Amino acid sequence: MKINITETVLRDANQSLIATRMPFSDFEGILETLDKAGYYSLECWGGATFDSCLRYLNEDPWERLEKIKAKVKNTKLQMLLRGQNILGYKHYPDDVVRKFVAQSVESGMDIFRIFDALNDFRNIEVAVDETLKRKAHAQGCICYTTSPIHNLEKYARMGKQLEEMGVNTICIKDMAGIMGPQEAYDLIKALKESVKLPIFLHTHSTTGLGPITYIKAVEAGCDGIDCAISSLSGGTSQPATETLDYALRQMGHTTGLNENALKDINDFFKPLKLKYISSGLMDPFVMGTETDALVYQVPGGMLSNLIAQLKSQNAIEKLDEVLAETPKVRKDLGYPPLVTPMSQMVGVQAVANVLAGERYKNVSKEVKSYLRGEYGQAPGEIDPALVKKVLDDEKPITRRFADTLEPEFDKIKAKLKDIAKNDKDVLSYIAFPQIAEKFFKEREERAVTRVTYTIVQK
Ligand code: CO
Repeated sequence: MKINITETVLRDANQSLIATRMPFSDFEGILETLDKAGYYSLECWGGATFDSCLRYLNEDPWERLEKIKAKVKNTKLQMLLRGQNILGYKHYPDDVVRKFVAQSVESGMDIFRIFDALNDFRNIEVAVDETLKRKAHAQGCICYTTSPIHNLEKYARMGKQLEEMGVNTICIKDMAGIMGPQEAYDLIKALKESVKLPIFLHTHSTTGLGPITYIKAVEAGCDGIDCAISSLSGGTSQPATETLDYALRQMGHTTGLNENALKDINDFFKPLKLKYISSGLMDPFVMGTETDALVYQVPGGMLSNLIAQLKSQNAIEKLDEVLAETPKVRKDLGYPPLVTPMSQMVGVQAVANVLAGERYKNVSKEVKSYLRGEYGQAPGEIDPALVKKVLDDEKPITRRFADTLEPEFDKIKAKLKDIAKNDKDVLSYIAFPQIAEKFFKEREERAVTRVTYTIVQK
């Protein structure tokens, strides 16, 4: 069987290991080789890359995408899109979502992996629809989690729902790397029985389960997996591309990957890895195996956030209590998957409940909006007593939150007429207003400096 390999070095590996700080200039020299390696796709944009380009790297994210496309002409480019949230944390109106997708296609994006943190597919419908309209590839995504209400039937139903929506492929996203090999086998089997579409699996090496989970998934008929070139693989990143390629070929599968190209790619990234470690950008700790997530059933990133929060409030001795409170909060909220923004919401609330000595004495603004239904429908039932306590007689909305939002692209474009050069700038501004504005200003200043410099040179 042909197993499709997506290379994540430019996006998820970059994001998971070095907080997405890899500048374009660091990887520009390897793009043509990446294009020749035989990958199914190259995940290179979306997620935190957009924010990081503007905030830390002084790069225009759109220009980055276009420059990648200029050198990667054959391999499909892939991005991660958070449905109605695009790349941020709030819900945007439909016209903005459509405009963002359309512009991304125009700038070179081929495959849109689209997810919603609650698996409320009403929140990905518009993005999927626009992707298909633009003749690009829509990959519908299911966020994987375990709970008393999540079972194989539920996941199979989700797959069916995505298929009915018209997506081209389906991805199971195990953002925390907690999916075990047998779970993967059963899940892929169940999905394969319920849908005809190709199924992809995304996991991380955090807990060390990644590679074995992939192998069992493939045994169950999984069509594609996400890997990272070995020098930037493992730990919080993905399992290594070369390792999986080797193992899969040994098992009689084909991957279409070119071993020599993989060697060149790895040789290219090796010195960069050393550079990131010696500059302090990469903490060697994140490369190791971290099994606490299996014990506590919370993602590794969330665990370190909880510890940081408690330390900052001089209450680290409460960690055990907070870890016991976390699953209770998650249950009260209807078992949301612990992915951004739900992992933060649940964690902050668990800390607040423990530190106040009374549950839900203090409730964050985010939890309030969640209870109002503004993030979408919870997977399970939200504790009615909690809803009553926080919302009193206010009724939560049941319709899609974006239906309550007015179109805003044209309004914002008009407002920005002096600082935005084009629609791409407008979209950057809508995604990250203050950061984009600062970026535009500095870009302007750099341009002025360059002109002055050229004149002086003459
Ligand atoms: Co990931």
